Amino acid sequence: MNFTVAIDGPAAAGKGTISRAVAQRFGFAHLDTGALYRAVGVKAEGQGLDPAAAARSLTAEDLEREDLRTLEAGQAASRVAVIPEVRAALLDFQREFARRAGGAVLDGRDIGTVICPGAEVKLFVTASPEVRARRRWLELGGEAAPKPYEAVLAEVLERDDRDMNRADAPLKPAADALILDTSEMSVEAAVAAAVAAIEAALGPDR
Ligand code: DC
Repeated sequence: MNFTVAIDGPAAAGKGTISRAVAQRFGFAHLDTGALYRAVGVKAEGQGLDPAAAARSLTAEDLEREDLRTLEAGQAASRVAVIPEVRAALLDFQREFARRAGGAVLDGRDIGTVICPGAEVKLFVTASPEVRARRRWLELGGEAAPKPYEAVLAEVLERDDRDMNRADAPLKPAADALILDTSEMSVEAAVAAAVAAIEAALGPDR
């Protein structure tokens, strides 16, 4: 069975949590496409490589680095993600993953619009910048975080601006995406809404 769930949205909106939960629930494979851009950003900026060359030579090892989840890696990812040659180098891998047998969930920024415009289910997961910054700040340790909340909010806004306003594959909902605003929604409610959309698309015969 080929069945693709595309989950897009801005940083720290809850895409990863929802993606992992639905992948587990339906037995689908999951690809966090942000990790690809993070690995390219960290590799290119860390080794002084041309970002497109870094994208073309990405290895499994690059994807296993422990520093990919940091705020700095997120910013580096957002910077290299504006480069069309970087996006082109990552396209085939994502499309092949999406059509693998047994179903796939991909989360990112352009999955429903560019990578898999024919995805069976498209979700756009969002939340206010303040809520997303607060979640990221709490993840980083809250009062013990290396940065104050205001600095995390500034980074969230900077990344939103770059991701939404780039020329190639900007972050925006696909015309037929279901919008899930998680600002005032529990994780359970957001996952339940995603599960309901997938069950409806799978139909009663599954
Ligand atoms: O989802 P994330 O925070 O791990 O993504 C990091 C950056 O990578 C994000 O700010 C923009 C870029 N990205 C992208 O351009 N397209 C994707 N499909 C996924 C991520």
